[in-house]
Amino acid sequence: MTLARPIIIDTDPGQDDAIAILLALASPEVDVLAVTTVAGNVPQPLVTDNALALLTLANRTDVPVYRGCERPLLRPLYTAEYVHGPSGVDGAELPEPTVRQEPGHGVDLIIEACLDADEPVTLCPLGPLTNIGMAIAKEPRIVDHIREIVWMGGAFDEPGNTTELAEFNAYVDPHAVHVVFTAGVPLTIMPLDVTHRALMTPDHVERLEGYEAPVAQAAAGMIRFYERYDIDKYDIPGAPMHDPCVIAYLIDPSMFSGVDALVAVDITNEATIGNTTADRHAEPTATYMDGVDADRFFDLLVTRLGRL
Ligand code: RIB
Ligand code: CA
Repeated sequence: MTLARPIIIDTDPGQDDAIAILLALASPEVDVLAVTTVAGNVPQPLVTDNALALLTLANRTDVPVYRGCERPLLRPLYTAEYVHGPSGVDGAELPEPTVRQEPGHGVDLIIEACLDADEPVTLCPLGPLTNIGMAIAKEPRIVDHIREIVWMGGAFDEPGNTTELAEFNAYVDPHAVHVVFTAGVPLTIMPLDVTHRALMTPDHVERLEGYEAPVAQAAAGMIRFYERYDIDKYDIPGAPMHDPCVIAYLIDPSMFSGVDALVAVDITNEATIGNTTADRHAEPTATYMDGVDADRFFDLLVTRLGRL
């Protein structure tokens, strides 16, 4: 039996973040040391409130939640209520949290957890990279204590979803992306190139609705709300499960395929900011995924959520 991999989830819930967090809590392959929150889909304190409510829903209030950054490193905060609704997790009535956020800042938790951990930690940012970038800037030594960063963000051969060129997490805080891309940490990226192939169809949602447990019902409700934006925008058969790809990769990387490349992000001008690029012929700095076995992915996702 392999030991559970210690991870920190950095998140901006967000319905797809919520599904990713629930998948992690349902999976013995990972040990969620803490959840840190970052302004993104909706502002603080909503992302923190949503994280606390999700852990209460899953009866996992043992997992500590730390509030992170309120805004990107340089740019003003850009949020996505047009996708996620005003609460950020519209579609489900989440319980009132029975716990409060921990004292201390999410960036400091990331630093302390990486430096103090018995084994290298895996960071799982599911939103803008503000907290991760700030942690690396504040304490560069953590780079040697990070096993891997697995980030949902960016778009390489796929168009952006926020501008023609930029994916949301990269667009909101491109300067933090630059810090992470140039930090020399083992980096695996789940860009739109793969998440747009992990589409949760009505059949998948109906399977999830077949589980009576409150977690499965809440997850299905959130997806039912969240799916409308992308299905309308792209005329596709289901909602992209962006953030759950990060956790599924940690559980079973064999269901993904990708490309090693030198990755970069544009921070030069308003028309192209947040555009992520990959040079497959240069010394690679990351692996980005552009293929997924969707049947295996959704079998895993639905059965794991069904047992929470
Ligand atoms: O572009 C999709 C990403 O932006 C996802 O992480 C979603 O939750 C939003 O944060
Ligand atoms: Ca997210």
